[in-house]
Amino acid sequence: MQATGISALLSLWETACRTVAAGEGPFTIVDYGSSQGRNSMPPMRVAIKALRLRSGPSVPIEVVHTDLPTNDFSALFEALSSSPDSYMNEASDVFPSAIGRSYFEPLFPPQRVDLGWSTWSLQWMSTGMIEAPDHILAGMSATPAVVSAVKRQQAKDWERFLVLRSREMRPGGKLVAGFTARTADITGWEWLLGELWSALCDMRTDGWLSQREQTRITIPIAIRTLDEIRKPFLEGEDFADLELEHLDLVRLADPCWEQFERNGDALAFAKRHTAMMQAWCEPTIASLIEPSRNPAAFVAELFNRFERRLVEGPRPHEPYMAAVVLSKRA
Ligand SMILES: C[S@@+](CC[C@H](N)C(=O)[O-])C[C@H]1O[C@@H](n2cnc3c(N)ncnc32)[C@H](O)[C@@H]1O
Repeated sequence: MQATGISALLSLWETACRTVAAGEGPFTIVDYGSSQGRNSMPPMRVAIKALRLRSGPSVPIEVVHTDLPTNDFSALFEALSSSPDSYMNEASDVFPSAIGRSYFEPLFPPQRVDLGWSTWSLQWMSTGMIEAPDHILAGMSATPAVVSAVKRQQAKDWERFLVLRSREMRPGGKLVAGFTARTADITGWEWLLGELWSALCDMRTDGWLSQREQTRITIPIAIRTLDEIRKPFLEGEDFADLELEHLDLVRLADPCWEQFERNGDALAFAKRHTAMMQAWCEPTIASLIEPSRNPAAFVAELFNRFERRLVEGPRPHEPYMAAVVLSKRA
């Protein structure tokens, strides 16, 4: 699913790499929220190729992957050195490195970055302090106090991210981002996250956790509308010297649905979606469970129940992604 969204962004990224107002190099490309880098390989390859076409085959390019200090950076460097998909394969004068610090903090000295890339990360809030009593995702709660706390936090986080990135970008630099977004009415996550919440409610009914513990299990994600993303740039104004060059909402097709329609294998379909969900939210959920409850056994039970629910009523999962291109005023 993540790779599908990234493919949808690649042509915007390629254009940004071709048109970025940069000097003759060396160039600095930053991958904000890289995780273990598996999905960073295609966009970094595209950027290296585009910059080399512009500035010659041996212009030095540094690629900096950033993520939280808890990220598995060893896996990232392992992938860079041995994955068949690594952008380092047959590359010369490309210098990868990493920073383990939140992008809600400054990461570089002023005017250092030519190109920024960030996918499937900016929906995470900077804080896990907001608890929702009625949903597993903070941004899908219907409790008025939670809704307004989430909206305040996501607006603050977006502005902070923009101000910090603007300081780090060279004049004429560009940043391309793709992250979870929504229409005014739907998020596209109603089915999967609704089933996960229902599985958690069933566990509570069966005595696995208390009401208080259930409320604590809130994934700190907020899903923005395009108006919320556009808000700092109201009336076409720049914000923090950044121009909003492009903003649109992309609805992603479910990569597993076509296969399900062909073979009707509901269990295989459910297993793929369960694995996809576990990859992005299981560690967060496990971290919110009391150690005395055996978090590993708890999340295993939760995702077993979730998978069974998906088998009973498969449907396509078609979430939205905001595609954003920003440029720093020259
Ligand atoms: C779903 S992964 C996306 C990874 C990759 N960019 C991709 O497109 O597949 C989200 C990543 O964002 C990181 N992340 C979340 N909040 C962050 C923050 N404040 N600063 C840096 N990274 C953050 C997470 O640690 C995680 O590795």
